[in-house]
Amino acid sequence: MDKLVIEGGRPLRGTIPISGSKNTALMLMAGAVLADGVTVLENIPHLRDITTFSHVLRIAGASVRFDPETHVMRIDATRIDFPEAPYELVKQMRASFYMLGALLGRCGQARVSLPGGCAWGPRPVNLHLEGLRAFGAEIELDQGYVVARAPGGRLRGGRFRLEPPSVGATVNLLLGAVTARGSSRIENAALEPDVVVFGRALQQMGARIEGLGTRTIEVEGVDALQPVTFRNCPDRIELGTFMIAAAIAGSPGDTIYLTGAEPSHLGEAFLEAFRQTGAAFTFDGDTVAVTVPERLQAVSIETAPYPGFPTDLQAQWTVLLSQAEGAGFVRDTVYPDRFKHVPELMRMGLQARVEGNTVFLEGPQRLQGAHVMSTDLRGSVSLVLAGLVAEGETHVLRVYHLDRGYENLEGKLSAAGIAIRRESYDEFATPTPESAEEN
Ligand code: EPZ
Repeated sequence: MDKLVIEGGRPLRGTIPISGSKNTALMLMAGAVLADGVTVLENIPHLRDITTFSHVLRIAGASVRFDPETHVMRIDATRIDFPEAPYELVKQMRASFYMLGALLGRCGQARVSLPGGCAWGPRPVNLHLEGLRAFGAEIELDQGYVVARAPGGRLRGGRFRLEPPSVGATVNLLLGAVTARGSSRIENAALEPDVVVFGRALQQMGARIEGLGTRTIEVEGVDALQPVTFRNCPDRIELGTFMIAAAIAGSPGDTIYLTGAEPSHLGEAFLEAFRQTGAAFTFDGDTVAVTVPERLQAVSIETAPYPGFPTDLQAQWTVLLSQAEGAGFVRDTVYPDRFKHVPELMRMGLQARVEGNTVFLEGPQRLQGAHVMSTDLRGSVSLVLAGLVAEGETHVLRVYHLDRGYENLEGKLSAAGIAIRRESYDEFATPTPESAEEN
């Protein structure tokens, strides 16, 4: 297995490029299943989740080619003849569940494994199932699989209210609705930019959708969608992560540039909280310039669906609070158990208290390098951020979590002045007196 080793205390400086959005790319790939022909997707990040989802599409019969240099993906979905997403892949990545809507929309039937829980707790899919049922699907459970069928080969469309406004359920319902026989309405739909960009791609393919970016999305089903060439948007969570990295690890007064970004996708809540810490930032086209303040001020946050503070940035914000002056808290109302990174940060000396869905802490704190374990994607990157400001070496184990969602993280950070390297290690090695001495 691989780990990242970070020597703390080096200032982050210069320019960091932002990759294409992982979560939007997964939606776009699912959308390609609906089009009989070759869809070309640009600005696709080279990540493990993208590779996993490529396998999911191949199982269904698509041919997927990806060039990691140009970041262009070609999906030939002329032949989709095996409408199934197996457990082995769905368990690795929940977004594989998008195949339910995509296969129903394309083939009128689907057999997709239920995803189960994830590293930080239960993540239900009840809204995906109830919504597709409301659009006409007949759904049964069979040995851990959802078996869905559209009577007569096409969904009829319908009306469904999401509570809460789930990103994934909005996507699955859109995938099902765009080729339905009739019209559909998704109420309390997700507003996340990923969903809006995905909806625009469907429109370009010929889908008739109104209300993207509002709480009510109306869809008029069409007979078929056409393949298109579409450019994926930049990754908003990677941008937020590097803005936080700049604020905590940059030299006061210095400016760090994040290029190829789309800052409006971060939402007002994050930008406002970031501004209140005292870190200055400006936008110029697709470049975000972050100027590092002398001192960061603590700002408490509470996650919420877009345009609220993203749950995918709360672990990183905890590290920011540890470096800021004053008391603050991080509350997650979207995933109330998403705090597996906190005990790992405590191994680095973090003093914090988790109560229910909230972590309380007071800064600034001195963190020390340690061996820490990745538990999930965003939690893992919070350990890397802590490593940037910790004294000594931090070893972040189980880097495969990071490889799911941060393209070339160590390459980008080392080009920006950070001493970081990837090493392989034996997770199950038994320590001997000699190895203990080496450490
Ligand atoms: C998406 O997950 C993202 N994943 C997540 O990013 C992100 O954390 C999440 O949205 C919230 O922004 C992808 O885009 C692939 P939800 P998703 O359905 O769609 C409840 C990352 O790190 N809910 O919007 O699975 C649910 O429990 C990942 O990149 C139901 O109750 O999230 C949660 O409280 C992790 N029933 C809330 O909705 C359902 O059927 C929002 O979840 C579905 C969801």
